[in-house]
Amino acid sequence: MIDAKTKLVALIGNPVEHSLSPIMHNAVFKKFGMNYVYLAFKVDKEKLKDVVNCFKALEINFNVTIPHKIEIMKYLDDISKEAKLIQAVNVVKIDNGKAIGYNTDGIGALKALKIDVKDKNVLILGAGGAARAIAFQLALNRANVYISNRTFEKALKLSDEIRKKTGTKSFAIPLDRKILREKIKEMDIVIQATSVGMYPNTNETLLYREDFRKDLIVMDIVYNPLETRFLKEAKKAGAKTIDGLGMLIYQGIESLKIWFEIMNEEEMENIMRKVLMEHLSFNRSSV
Ligand SMILES: NC(=O)c1ccc[n+]([C@@H]2O[C@H](COP(=O)([O-])OP(=O)(O)OC[C@H]3O[C@@H](n4cnc5c(N)ncnc54)[C@H](OP(=O)(O)O)[C@@H]3O)[C@@H](O)[C@H]2O)c1
Repeated sequence: MIDAKTKLVALIGNPVEHSLSPIMHNAVFKKFGMNYVYLAFKVDKEKLKDVVNCFKALEINFNVTIPHKIEIMKYLDDISKEAKLIQAVNVVKIDNGKAIGYNTDGIGALKALKIDVKDKNVLILGAGGAARAIAFQLALNRANVYISNRTFEKALKLSDEIRKKTGTKSFAIPLDRKILREKIKEMDIVIQATSVGMYPNTNETLLYREDFRKDLIVMDIVYNPLETRFLKEAKKAGAKTIDGLGMLIYQGIESLKIWFEIMNEEEMENIMRKVLMEHLSFNRSSV
């Protein structure tokens, strides 16, 4: 029940109407008997500064989504090491009146992989916001990071940045199927971090069965549909596949851990997965 003690946790972005964050966070609050409510707010760029000041005054913790993950950094008092490297913030904690920015997208993806990535060769398809967060987190965990992107200059720039800022091995590869198929022979993990294959273009894929191997781990961060064509092709080759729901859930869990510190991760994961699966299967076209 909402009463005078209920506290708000917010999401700001534009658009925000299709976000799954309110569903998963409110389910956790209910399950854990926490007197909190999570609401999404559509915020224009011009209002960002006012919104941050308002949240600081009211001590409201919040998530940040597209298109404000970079711009928001101007208005924060401090930024975590990871967020500084990635150059994007998706979580803000108000601590003693100060707004501190974090990035949990990369750690979310790594947790979804569920393996130690040290010295593993990882190929990331994409060099957009999500790919960037994953690439830096992999580099911080000492994986060798290979980046392939449609706009090759972006892949070159990102791999260059990773090498310079983390000292980790990182290379750019053209998004060319023949070249990728050869390169994948050396990979342990392949992560699809472009929007290719996302609803409604569910038949699209950048790679096919012949490009994968049985002993590869293949993750697609797209979660609508849950089993993308990319994952179907990898599965046909016998690879171990991981869908995009894990990353979504774990970045949310990491946000909750930053705001509330100690919570039962396994229980949070179970409740988030349950509500998201229900929502995605009943409401497939709206996410
Ligand atoms: N599971 C999760 O928790 C999670 C979290 C964040 C994002 N995502 C999903 O990840 C995807 C990417 O998100 P983002 O925030 O990184 O987006 P973004 O910053 O807009 O980047 C989009 C990426 O996709 C590439 N791309 C788009 N269309 C392509 C095509 N037809 N062929 C080849 N490459 C193409 C772009 O290449 P160019 O650079 O050449 O344009 C770029 O690398 C989205 O589907 C999003 O829903 C999932």
